[in-house]
Amino acid sequence: MNDTLGRPLRNLRLSVTDRCNLRCEYCMPEEDYVWLPREDVLQFEEISALADVFVSLGVDKIRLTGGEPLLRRDVAALVRMIAAKPGLNDLALTTNGVLLADQIDALKAAGLQRITVSLDTLHAERFKSLTRFDQLDAVHAGIAAAHRAFGRLKIDTVVIRGVNDDELVALIEYGRAVNGEIRFIEYMDVGGASRWSPDRVVSRRDILEALTRRYGAIVQVDEPGSSAPADRYALADGTTFGIIASTTDPFCRTCDRSRLTADGMWYLCLYATRGLDLRAPLRAGMAAAELRGLIGKGWGARDDRGAEDRVALGDRRAFVPVQDLLRKDPHLEMHTRGG
Ligand code: GTP
Ligand code: 5AD
Ligand code: SF4
Repeated sequence: MNDTLGRPLRNLRLSVTDRCNLRCEYCMPEEDYVWLPREDVLQFEEISALADVFVSLGVDKIRLTGGEPLLRRDVAALVRMIAAKPGLNDLALTTNGVLLADQIDALKAAGLQRITVSLDTLHAERFKSLTRFDQLDAVHAGIAAAHRAFGRLKIDTVVIRGVNDDELVALIEYGRAVNGEIRFIEYMDVGGASRWSPDRVVSRRDILEALTRRYGAIVQVDEPGSSAPADRYALADGTTFGIIASTTDPFCRTCDRSRLTADGMWYLCLYATRGLDLRAPLRAGMAAAELRGLIGKGWGARDDRGAEDRVALGDRRAFVPVQDLLRKDPHLEMHTRGG
């Protein structure tokens, strides 16, 4: 199943809730949000039924996201339903880590294969001002629990100039200690409420320069055919890390991902302004074969290269005007889209 640019449908991000227990400045900085109506949020059985259709069309990687996915009650039960699907090679979850320590054993037992925790700073005060909650210790506990249960993890760090760009080395060292591969993420101008501006972006080149100053030569790890967002690098001692350069050098050419929001809207690109409603046909009783046709047709027509289009713009500012659109359509924000 290929789109108009020959990209296969392989990677599905399932957002299980639009709510979050942190308020990261680059993602949810506003005072008020319009939440998805509760009755619109898909039941686990509904998510699972849609996942079956996606898997039948070639999806073999699923990642659960949010908002914060661990806020969804008994998310391990959903993990168990999805992990059981034949044809799936990879089941992962992205979390802010606050609730992870308590849930890690249930998630592992349910069949979760990989875990990514977001962590932008190692300083408690900074964590508080960046996320509005004093929860750094809980995140550390979550990361320690993931290390214990899975042996390894990934750690996502959005790098923001003047906020945490002095912590690159400290984060690499922290990652080593917990067997977490750090992925430095360029600040993206996605959604509206991102407080994004070009001068706050720390580019891949800046990141590599800073790390080279401290560690000496850095080599890129070759991963032919990879569609992953991160380029991976190794330090002389073998420590690896990744950089996700979605802002300066996007990976749209090989992008095989789409995302389903908690209320069943299917988006073909992180920057897509319109999605395909799968909840309505599902709840109207559409048969799996027909849903398959609908989704297949949607993917077949896909020509999105959202992040590349942003680069081509030159003069960039926040993607969506917050004031009006955030109220009208919460789907446009990263916390609804699933990061
Ligand atoms: P892996 O399967 O381990 O490669 O996971 P992942 O990197 O897809 O997952 P994660 O949730 O950790 O995403 C990391 C970051 O990649 C996000 O914070 C985004 O900045 C970026 N990203 C994820 N999905 C997309 C996408 O569809 N388009 C673009 N341009 N960037 C994305
Ligand atoms: N730019 C880059 N990454 C972002 N995320 C959320 N908003 C942005 C943004 N504006 C990241 C989170 C998390 C992942 C799911 O999405 O930090 O690691
Ligand atoms: Fe894929 Fe769109 Fe992200 Fe490009 S911007 S990598 S096409 S989701």
